[in-house]
Amino acid sequence: MSQIKIAPLGFAAGAEVTGVDLSKPLSSADQSVINQAWLKHLVLVFPGQDLSPEQQIAFSRHFGLLDPQESQAPTTLHPDHREILVLSNKMVNGKKSGTHNSGRNWHTDLTYTPRPAKGAILHCKEKPPVGGDTMWANLYLAYETLSPRIQQLLEGLEAIHDVTLIRGLEQRSPDVIAEMKRRNPPMIHPVIRIHPETKRKSYLVGQRVRGFVGMGDDESRHLLDMLNEHATAPEFVFRHRWQLGDVVMWDNRCTSHVALGDFDQTQPRVMFRCSLEGEQETGRLFERPQTDDRAAMVQAVAAVS
Ligand code: OGA
Ligand code: MN
Repeated sequence: MSQIKIAPLGFAAGAEVTGVDLSKPLSSADQSVINQAWLKHLVLVFPGQDLSPEQQIAFSRHFGLLDPQESQAPTTLHPDHREILVLSNKMVNGKKSGTHNSGRNWHTDLTYTPRPAKGAILHCKEKPPVGGDTMWANLYLAYETLSPRIQQLLEGLEAIHDVTLIRGLEQRSPDVIAEMKRRNPPMIHPVIRIHPETKRKSYLVGQRVRGFVGMGDDESRHLLDMLNEHATAPEFVFRHRWQLGDVVMWDNRCTSHVALGDFDQTQPRVMFRCSLEGEQETGRLFERPQTDDRAAMVQAVAAVS
């Protein structure tokens, strides 16, 4: 019998999970209670945990394979545990860490790869006295509250995800920027997603999308702004104020998130992240389309009109 208690924290998403020590092996009963709660609440907060890297990795493996982290600059991974990405604003060898400003625009993890992450497990190691919160948006609700007309428009639509649109990427060290670009050329994913376990639909865009396949730049921009604004309306968002020791586990298949820079940057903020590998490879490389003369003419006119 499981001793786990689940207490909802928000309407759109979020639940607190207590009565379980994540540093200990997880029983299959507890694993199943956590997975059910995860599917229902999308973001689970486990307060007061204290996990070694090995324990965080072991806990994460209960929920899928770990992402091999090929998309990340090697200097941003834990030196002894490549399964862990270190999100830190501390100096490393006299230089700003390559993750000092990670996650600062709305995104879903690893959409700049062929296999967006299934989920993530983030453990709070150091935090500023106030701020440095994270927000998640429930993308099921976002989809379900669109009008049928717009839902129809999204069927079959594909978006171009671009790693260079990570907010603040240009502030990272040149070697980290070069690695991120080299490893992650622009990637196309379908906008509509069906969650493999709940079978519910959601839509995947975010602020790291450059545009939609087959649309002009202006069309893309307006549609993208509308979809992002709708998805991140306060009604669909859960905001978490971190406490030291929190472990937060989110379902990346139906949420997006943003890490807020609302804190004193001289104070350390350190998080360890395990990413769960996506179950489906949905991406294909974006190659700039060859426009024929007629299409080029129409585009040229559209650009000035
Ligand atoms: C992430 C991320 C959130 C945060 O780990 O994927 O976006 O609050 N970070 O650090
Ligand atoms: Mn993220």
